[in-house]
Amino acid sequence: MTKAHLGIWARIIVAIIGVLIFPYSVVTSFLCMSFIMMSASLRLIRASHPNSFFSSFLALFTGLTLGIIIYVSSVLIAALILYDPSSESFAYYFDYNIKHGMAFSMVTLLLIVFNTILCAINLFVQFYTEDYLMENQFENKTIFMTGGTSGLGKIAALHALANGAHLILMVRNEEKGKQLQQTFASEYPKSKGQLTLINGNLSDLQSTVDACTAVQRLNVELDQIVLNAGIMNFERKLSQNGIEETLQVNLLAPLLIIEKLHNLLNTEGNSKIIITASALHQGNINFNDIEFKENYSAFKVYRQSKLGTILLSRLLTDRFKNFGIYTQHPGVVKTELGRDAGWFSKFIFSLMGSSPKKGARTLIYLMESNAKNLSTGGYYAKKLFTTTTKQSYDMVMAEGLMEVCKEYLAVYLNENTPAVK
Ligand SMILES: NC(=O)c1ccc[n+]([C@@H]2O[C@H](COP(=O)([O-])OP(=O)(O)OC[C@H]3O[C@@H](n4cnc5c(N)ncnc54)[C@H](OP(=O)(O)O)[C@@H]3O)[C@@H](O)[C@H]2O)c1
Repeated sequence: MTKAHLGIWARIIVAIIGVLIFPYSVVTSFLCMSFIMMSASLRLIRASHPNSFFSSFLALFTGLTLGIIIYVSSVLIAALILYDPSSESFAYYFDYNIKHGMAFSMVTLLLIVFNTILCAINLFVQFYTEDYLMENQFENKTIFMTGGTSGLGKIAALHALANGAHLILMVRNEEKGKQLQQTFASEYPKSKGQLTLINGNLSDLQSTVDACTAVQRLNVELDQIVLNAGIMNFERKLSQNGIEETLQVNLLAPLLIIEKLHNLLNTEGNSKIIITASALHQGNINFNDIEFKENYSAFKVYRQSKLGTILLSRLLTDRFKNFGIYTQHPGVVKTELGRDAGWFSKFIFSLMGSSPKKGARTLIYLMESNAKNLSTGGYYAKKLFTTTTKQSYDMVMAEGLMEVCKEYLAVYLNENTPAVK
């Protein structure tokens, strides 16, 4: 049972209790009814597989039927509980409902109609408008991606593959790449999607360059570059290049990939670079000690890397006019991100975190949306364009950071990789 289904059952129980406690209150019954019917059917629609028209309709009818059954049975249960031949309570209750019966059923009927219209609009929007049209959204699309073997990236990768994308996935762990290949083949045997695995480790800049070269040799035109991989190190670690690892994996290596691969992007207007940032991006860039050699803190280092991601993406919009560049925040998600955190942080994370499926929504939204409906340089959270901290709009800081990053990457940026275009 998923969290969404648990939520539905919780609402149903609350509604039944509500009706039992206040059997005379027509208003309570109405509120409970509308609550159950709307939330149950709409939540079921969202919880069901987004691509199945049939499952959405099934969800709609389940929601409606459930609402009606619960309403009728809760009134009956209340009547039975209150039945006491020696007192007037049942007679009063019955009489009350007879008197108000007409209004009662009219309002219930109105609620059903209202709920049906709501669900119909939801279905219409989901299936017939360009933004939400999911079928064929990924067909004939070629996407380069990092961080697709775990967490929210894995959900987004499988979603794109299931819907027909050619996904070129950079993996640091070949075994995990093969596992993803198997999962895809067994769960979506009919999909036209194609998975190409490229070995590459963001913690090793030469390996990152080699992965880009391998992509260039595929002779493909890219529609999207999705840079989702990221780390949070609770102890200071150095990359294979001797650089503080969070800075390298979250900021330097993604920038290197952008520089190496952006010329493969299709320039017809719907191409995108999407980078996973985070709501944790407060503060400034610590130019005096960008690698936090002193006063290392996992959160400070992580925040700086995500602030840097937002700053550089905004700065790059000046250069990249033929495609959009976006950052996104997935929410607090229960993934492998805090794998080396202490038990307390892990506990808090598991209490606060949502499922990777939920965490992947904004990323999938950005991958699916038509670029003309998105704002380049924008940061998105909960599928919405969202403003960020004051510092993250500071383009002087962004330019300073770009200079520093280019110094780190100088050798690798100058290395000639075969250009396709
Ligand atoms: N979880 C949250 O609450 C949260 C909140 C805000 C932002 N984010 C961001 O969301 C993104 C995805 O993270 P997640 O939460 O899904 O964590 P995750 O489960 O740890 O997934 C991270 C992904 O990045 C890959 N990766 C890590 N280091 C790499 C390297 N050196 N080279 C190549 N690939 C590497 C991992 O590969 P392996 O499978 O081989 O480990 C994995 O596929 C990250 O950018 C993270 O900062 C997460």
